Amino acid sequence: MAYDPQTERYTLPPEHAMALTDETSPAYVAPGFQLMLAIVRAEPRIEEAFRTGGGMEWGEHHSDLFPATERFFRTGYLAYLVSSWIPALDGVEAKLKSGATVADVGCGHGASTRIMAQAYPNSRFHGFDNHAPSIEAARAEAEAEGVGDRITFEVATAQDFPGSGYDLIAYFDCLHDMGDPVGAMRYARRAVADDGALLIVEPMAGEHVEENINPVGRVFSGASVLCCTPNAIATGGPEGVALGTVATEQQLREVVLEGGFTRFRRATETPFNRIFEARP
Ligand SMILES: C[S@@+](CC[C@H](N)C(=O)[O-])C[C@H]1O[C@@H](n2cnc3c(N)ncnc32)[C@H](O)[C@@H]1O
Repeated sequence: MAYDPQTERYTLPPEHAMALTDETSPAYVAPGFQLMLAIVRAEPRIEEAFRTGGGMEWGEHHSDLFPATERFFRTGYLAYLVSSWIPALDGVEAKLKSGATVADVGCGHGASTRIMAQAYPNSRFHGFDNHAPSIEAARAEAEAEGVGDRITFEVATAQDFPGSGYDLIAYFDCLHDMGDPVGAMRYARRAVADDGALLIVEPMAGEHVEENINPVGRVFSGASVLCCTPNAIATGGPEGVALGTVATEQQLREVVLEGGFTRFRRATETPFNRIFEARP
């Protein structure tokens, strides 16, 4: 922020204005403040979770967290999902254009589901999340955007969502939150068509801690400790693995292959995201 004493005016330099005010920019980070404020409102509960080791579920957070998450991730999905991530998957774009069946697991408020439904009118999309208030919000937003006829939203977990023979099952910034990611992948193997694909979007992170000591890595590492890892711990069953927000590619590969998939690769990436494709 610059201040000119002559005119008594404050000015945001263009690069600051883009990051703080331009909701269409993939560099729009303003919702990150809403997100972090929402997370720290649960500080006493988080402290208790640290003391007991019992974790804390996503739905226990302050209600600001859920719309903030949507606002934080949506701009990246708007900028890249249709233009770059889907085309980076082998043969998936053609199927979506002609008419495919897609599950968006851990869809939250459904920003990714709506963006795909807008872009591929011949396809049908099914969003699932185990957080009921998020599913209610997702339904309302899809109706308001006029894509309600192409999307269904249902409360379901990654290990009991309905349907089978999906051409594409997507996990946007949620596989690392799950208490039993291997179980989720085993379930996905049964739900996906034999020639179908998984799209797994995970926050950008390196294979070693020192690769995450930068502004992006610090934000994701903070979110991991305060939000994502506690959810994984709280919901993990006997096979629980708390991947956390900065899970390495190697850890993700092991989870996906252990779940029964035979191929896993990084299809593309952005400064904030790693985009993986898995195949049966
Ligand atoms: C970080 S949010 C991402 C939401 C959304 N995909 C997005 O990109 O905006 C993680 C979501 O995963 C959901 N989630 C976590 N574990 C889940 C599970 N086992 N089954 C279904 N949803 C789950 C949470 O309820 C939450 O909505």
